[in-house]
Amino acid sequence: MTSPAAPWWTSAVVYQVYPRSFADSNGDGIGDLRGVAGKLDHLELLGVDVIWLSPVYPSPQDDAGYDISDYRGIDPVFGTLEDFDALLVDVHARGMKLVMDLVVNHTSDEHPWFVESRSSRDNPKRDWYWWRPARPHMEPGAPGAEPTNWGSAFSGPAWDLDQATGEYYLHLFSRKQPDLNWENPEVRAAIHAMMRWWLDRGVDGFRMDVINFISKDVRADGSLPDGVVRAGARYGDGHPHFSCGPRIHEYLQEMNREVFAGRRERPLTVGEMPGVTVDQAVLFTDPARAEVDMVFQFEHVGLDHGASKWDVHPLRLTDLKASLGRWQAGLADVGWNSLYWDNHDQPRIVSRFGDDGEHRVRSATMLATVLHLHRGTPYVYQGEELGMTNAHFERIDDYRDIESLNHYAEALTHGLADPGALLAGLRASSRDNARTPVQWDGTEYAGFSTVEPWIAVNPNHLEINAAVQHDDPGSVFHFYRRLIALRHTEPAVALGTFTMLLADDAAVYAFRRRLGETRLLVLGNFTATEQTVALDDADAWAGAELVLGNYPEVVGFDAPLRPWESRVFRRG
Ligand code: NOJ
Repeated sequence: MTSPAAPWWTSAVVYQVYPRSFADSNGDGIGDLRGVAGKLDHLELLGVDVIWLSPVYPSPQDDAGYDISDYRGIDPVFGTLEDFDALLVDVHARGMKLVMDLVVNHTSDEHPWFVESRSSRDNPKRDWYWWRPARPHMEPGAPGAEPTNWGSAFSGPAWDLDQATGEYYLHLFSRKQPDLNWENPEVRAAIHAMMRWWLDRGVDGFRMDVINFISKDVRADGSLPDGVVRAGARYGDGHPHFSCGPRIHEYLQEMNREVFAGRRERPLTVGEMPGVTVDQAVLFTDPARAEVDMVFQFEHVGLDHGASKWDVHPLRLTDLKASLGRWQAGLADVGWNSLYWDNHDQPRIVSRFGDDGEHRVRSATMLATVLHLHRGTPYVYQGEELGMTNAHFERIDDYRDIESLNHYAEALTHGLADPGALLAGLRASSRDNARTPVQWDGTEYAGFSTVEPWIAVNPNHLEINAAVQHDDPGSVFHFYRRLIALRHTEPAVALGTFTMLLADDAAVYAFRRRLGETRLLVLGNFTATEQTVALDDADAWAGAELVLGNYPEVVGFDAPLRPWESRVFRRG
């Protein structure tokens, strides 16, 4: 229920499916599309509106499907196009929508476009990627001869030398993920055509992978600038030269004209944008500019990082409030926020900002409440609705993720840390924390598969699983149902203004929402001890209705918040 002017996604909740780890229907240990189809009852019961499907396209799986070798197909490991079409029909029949992952900053090096491009310097597709000679006066392959000093996101340099043609190609991620050259209009046209093809097939939008990296800061002579090398770093930081580059807005506006304009129902577009600032996000999400509906920003998921993501510190709640509060204020009048704790790249929130031991249920539901009651579109990552925890892997052999494995290998090779410290960093921050199989039940492979899965099941599936929670009204799952339903029934959740309260309180997260006469008050205790809340307008809230709380026993408004308690009050 939103005002007539509000787009449909303002009151929607999106659920991310990471197919490899969701449900395996054919007993090969890897999740697949029929597995997703088999679990739609769970998603319908949960009440989500949109499913975002991480990549299912043909891929060598160097980066778990984010390295695509054919944009118009389905990898056999996930099924067939017929399976996809059948899933889409079923999703739509249940009143949900399906959003595809769009990975177009780069392709796989096995994509026919790159295979052609690398075949010779004068191939017509040569310019579809970023090919550059060695640095002036240096031999190709010599140390430091790369065209720029940028490091790749997955360790090592961002350039690889192609021996056959004697030039380097750019890959901001793995060497099997060459960056597409968006300067070339043929590249853009090919991508637009592919997007139209999926929309014509019936999909409802796109989550755009690192979309703010597609415009590079290329100089008139075709060269790219070096980045600053920070103390202790092996490579230069290229971000200023490829993040939100000079033509990014032009490219997104062109994409809108070429792909989305004139469609009956506007597809959902969410741009993943590492490093994006509030000011930039206002431009990206201003509806009048027609770029994207919302962005995934990264500020709040970097607050517990030290010098790198592997160096984790306890979160200061005041930092979280300052950050999310700034995003709420910055996009209050123009633009729109996406809201997320978890995804396939982040450790599990209950293990990160909550307590995955004694207070798991309480802290998972408190964190969910605080997030979903902000203004913006919330995203639930598979298993988050069950309060799934980090993997807590002990050995390097347990990990599968290229980022984790490359980091470990590179740090050891260069003597940067000892194996114990590296494993501690991975335990806290590895992307594999979020990629263990969804825990459907307490059987040997958690109901995910009948055989040993591609990555280990968390042993805590014996206690934490969907089967148990479906039958338990006090479970994290049923709490999420109530939380999602609240967004659907209470317009102030979707559209109310946001006011942060108690910004300096190190233990309690508090804010107000307001739509017309309706006011909501949201309180979340981020600690395991009781907390007294001192609000200026406490009297006004004394008789307010408690619309959602994560403790079964209701206490008076003035009673201190119990460990990890959350409460949502309404008046007016
Ligand atoms: C962001 C995706 O979420 C991540 O999983 C992937 O590795 C990189 N982009 C590269 O595509």
